[in-house]
Amino acid sequence: MTVFDVPLSQLRQRQSMKWTRYPPDVLPLWVAELDAYLSPGVKAALTRAVEIGDFGYHGAPILEAAWRRYAADTWGLSLAPEQVTGCGDVMSGMAAIVQHLTPAGSAIATTTPIYRPFRPAGRVGGRRLVTCAMTPAGRLDLPGLAALFERERPAAFLLCNPYNPYGSIASPAELAELAALAAAFDVTVVADEIHALVTDPAASFTPYLAVPGAETGFALASASKGFGLAGLKAGLIIAGSKRTGDLDLLPYESKTGATSHLGLIAQTAALDLDRDWLADLNTEITAHKRQLAKALAPFGLSYEPSPATYLAWVDCSPLGLTDPAGHFRLHGKVAFNPGTDYDEGAGQWIRINVATSSVILAEAVRRLGAALAAA
Ligand SMILES: Cc1ncc(COP(=O)(O)O)c(C=O)c1O
Repeated sequence: MTVFDVPLSQLRQRQSMKWTRYPPDVLPLWVAELDAYLSPGVKAALTRAVEIGDFGYHGAPILEAAWRRYAADTWGLSLAPEQVTGCGDVMSGMAAIVQHLTPAGSAIATTTPIYRPFRPAGRVGGRRLVTCAMTPAGRLDLPGLAALFERERPAAFLLCNPYNPYGSIASPAELAELAALAAAFDVTVVADEIHALVTDPAASFTPYLAVPGAETGFALASASKGFGLAGLKAGLIIAGSKRTGDLDLLPYESKTGATSHLGLIAQTAALDLDRDWLADLNTEITAHKRQLAKALAPFGLSYEPSPATYLAWVDCSPLGLTDPAGHFRLHGKVAFNPGTDYDEGAGQWIRINVATSSVILAEAVRRLGAALAAA
């Protein structure tokens, strides 16, 4: 049995966003939810919490401690207790940093195409969002960012690493160069590292706060993407060693006051007990990306398996469709994210969530093919 062998009939009983947005005849491979069984440690911890009625307010900083252990064991990143605090989820943590730690009226920079909620997070309180396109290979355009920083003088740069939607991972050299640019232009880097747990076993991820010069930045983390726990709200804000005092400037309701006790219990169990399960998940995701690349090729679509995330960013322009995602949904009954979710100019792209069984993935591509035959 693999982690993704959940029967379709059971997935369809889920009430989460992925399984309820579209009618039941549409196969959903869009929003970043996992079609996986719960990992065993998480299941046991949540079952126990239900059995003993452990539904009160959060207690000790268990997730902060579990993350510090995980970061040290996985990336050799040593974090002091005062650097890490809980938050409701990654996006609310990002919005809180922008709101409380950048001056009102400032510019906030990010890259495009980008996970859509980065935009409102950068515009909090009327701040001005300024953007720099990623390179066609899905990497940071560092000269472009330097020019943007010089021209717009943003107070913060919202970094997505690993990258949604490309699935790329910034190298230590790229991150160090970004940190140097940030220092030169007095920009606070806010690194969303929510996909850090979902990496190809052959790839390596470097946390932003591990590179020289990153001490003035922040990172945002969560085990929710890797373990399929997005609905149990919990995330982490991690301050660079020179910014720990700034965590006191964030209101309680943007920090641990917003976490769900069950989310903390679940993510703590995940990080401490289910690392083998995560390794299996990553092995399967790598296999699914290869399966997808092979299955798309006969349609003239090329996809190069990415080193991180379970999201495949696919250019459909060879097909000559006006709205590929809409076409596949209407004529093939299969839902992918349209590229316009990430960039207004990316209408020819789709994002495919491969965190599902290989059977469902094969059926999704079959439906894509049927939609093309119907065109
Ligand atoms: C890059 C990125 N950041 C944040 C999130 C959402 O995280 P949260 O639910 O913790 O706000 C997602 C969800 O897919 C994501 O892809």
